Amino acid sequence: MTQCHVPDEPTIIHPALAGRYSPVRFNSTLTLTTAEVHALLDAARHAPSAGNSQPWKFIVARRGDANHQRIVRRLARSSSLWAPAASLLVVNLAHTLVEGTADWEYSEFAHYDLGQAVAHMTFQGLAMGLAAHQFRAFDRDGITSDFVIPHHWEVTSITAFGTATHAAGELASSGTSRERMSLDEIIWS
Ligand SMILES: Cc1cc2nc3c(=O)[nH]c(=O)nc-3n(C[C@H](O)[C@H](O)[C@H](O)COP(=O)(O)O)c2cc1C
Repeated sequence: MTQCHVPDEPTIIHPALAGRYSPVRFNSTLTLTTAEVHALLDAARHAPSAGNSQPWKFIVARRGDANHQRIVRRLARSSSLWAPAASLLVVNLAHTLVEGTADWEYSEFAHYDLGQAVAHMTFQGLAMGLAAHQFRAFDRDGITSDFVIPHHWEVTSITAFGTATHAAGELASSGTSRERMSLDEIIWS
């Protein structure tokens, strides 16, 4: 593994992607407008998916609202240190099973497609000057129960959106190594 020096290395990828990082401290005073929140969701809506199956839904929680309070109670200790300050928490749900069946898969690509929709959302955020930190450090069963998520949907991850109060790599976090494999390591030879 080689250390990734984003964004210092010479690179031809888009500057927004080269400079992207997952903050561990957010500006706790920034609020997002409804139009900004809708732009993030609209970006996800435009993502491609296998057979146009669109196997995603999102729970939207602005800092301080009822959804936010419910989600914050279910964060793991690690994410509770930084996620509550973000302007917006978005819980990412995958449509995994056909409704009413025990184990009939809705789409072979449900998680793949959800990830792609979340990526679109985070890129839209970058274009709007917002950073994002996706995470799994929360009580999945607790959120599933609190929001009465049915068996055929899976609470997969959460994305925290906002503006960072620190630079990339400035604060160490147990959950966020910034090392990357080299291009040689990711090209199958
Ligand atoms: C599906 C997923 C789950 C993640 N879970 C966590 C997590 O539970 N806690 C955390 O601090 N970061 C989590 N991350 C963030 C990654 O650790 C982070 O993206 C990675 O270390 C690379 O750092 P960077 O995003 O700053 O480049 C998660 C990211 C993804 C995509």
